[in-house]
Amino acid sequence: MFDPYKVREDFPIFNRKIDGNNIIYFDNAATSQRPLQVIEAVKSYYELYNSNVHRGVHTLSQESSELYEKAHREVANFINAKDLQEIVFVKNTTEALNLVAYAWGFKNLKAGDEVVTTLMEHHSNMIPWEMISKVKGFKVKYVDINEDATLNYEMLENMVGSKTKAVCICHMSNVTGTINDVERVSKLAHENGAVVIVDAAQSVPHMPVDVKKLDVDFYAFSGHKMLGPTGIGVLYGKKELLDEIEPFLTGGGMVRDVKYEVSSGSVTADWAELPWKFEAGTPNIAGGVGLMEAVRYLKRLGMENVRSHEKELTEYALERLKELGKVRVYGPRRSSERGGIIPFNIDGMNPHDVALLLDQFGIMVRSGLHCAHPLHERLGVKGGTVRASFYVYNTREEVDRFIEVLKQIEKV
Ligand SMILES: Cc1ncc(COP(=O)(O)O)c(C=O)c1O
Repeated sequence: MFDPYKVREDFPIFNRKIDGNNIIYFDNAATSQRPLQVIEAVKSYYELYNSNVHRGVHTLSQESSELYEKAHREVANFINAKDLQEIVFVKNTTEALNLVAYAWGFKNLKAGDEVVTTLMEHHSNMIPWEMISKVKGFKVKYVDINEDATLNYEMLENMVGSKTKAVCICHMSNVTGTINDVERVSKLAHENGAVVIVDAAQSVPHMPVDVKKLDVDFYAFSGHKMLGPTGIGVLYGKKELLDEIEPFLTGGGMVRDVKYEVSSGSVTADWAELPWKFEAGTPNIAGGVGLMEAVRYLKRLGMENVRSHEKELTEYALERLKELGKVRVYGPRRSSERGGIIPFNIDGMNPHDVALLLDQFGIMVRSGLHCAHPLHERLGVKGGTVRASFYVYNTREEVDRFIEVLKQIEKV
């Protein structure tokens, strides 16, 4: 039985009161809280194992390297990747998507090609493609959304064709919570010879993921949104694709050999095996260890349970929000098509004012444009939205308090 009250006991931050209020943390799409198990794992890494990886022959370096590699293996297992060679540790989703755009995009895209993305993307899955298109001369095309903020699949099907080299799409929108049918998108892209690059920042933390079943080529996510530390993220890539592209960052730690050739007076290098070829410099080792612990924690909870808890909570909150006369909610109507994210506005009120008023009651939500300006423009809310987003430790009781406070704010 999944019990959010039991889960909460693992999160020390909920012992804190702010101005006499319990913390109701509904800003999980921005970053999650961390359980004691993750905090302890990072702490004990520094206390017991701290050393650089892949360099030393001494005990601490050996142990540190083993832990860091194990972290890659646990993440691979969590999303059903083949093995650790397909798991590159980066800083966050943003860096993972930039890595793909710069390393894969530079090598494979040219004038006349097209990259298809959508209007519901976070900026980190739009701007890197626009930047590279300026240099390489390909075109970035945007698929529209329907009125209920679901993806317009008909438009996608018409847009993807022989010129398409990549389809870049989020698995779950960070604004509307829309869950895209990535399996369907992969099938369409592959039929047209294009690769599929998925922004999974909002999906991996909240639902079971199997990259083999989804048949994605690249899949990017952040540790800090899934109970892990900040500064650690993941790029999954199919081995054959990672093998064929050049590294994004170069320097120490990612080479097998570097030679100075006297005859030409130049230096040549060949790359270390995967995934180290893409992890230049000293990595965030403690972050990797913390992420491993976060993955273990989520596995113990069961990702099916995580998804159904959030689905149930979202359905309940959406139902209760109907009690408010002045609240307008955005996003898909069917709960099977949306994650635990609810963007809304109160008529006549600025979203930041609503967030500030909620904060006075200890309720933390996000307000603004959520790094998705084109999507807000498309939704007709240039001034932004208030966003409540749920996770494993949120409860119905918190939703009730949220509705009660919103009713007071609405009256104001
Ligand atoms: C859908 C989506 N993509 C990308 C990002 C960027 O993640 P990060 O800031 O961890 O790089 C976010 C963060 O909010 C997101 O929600």
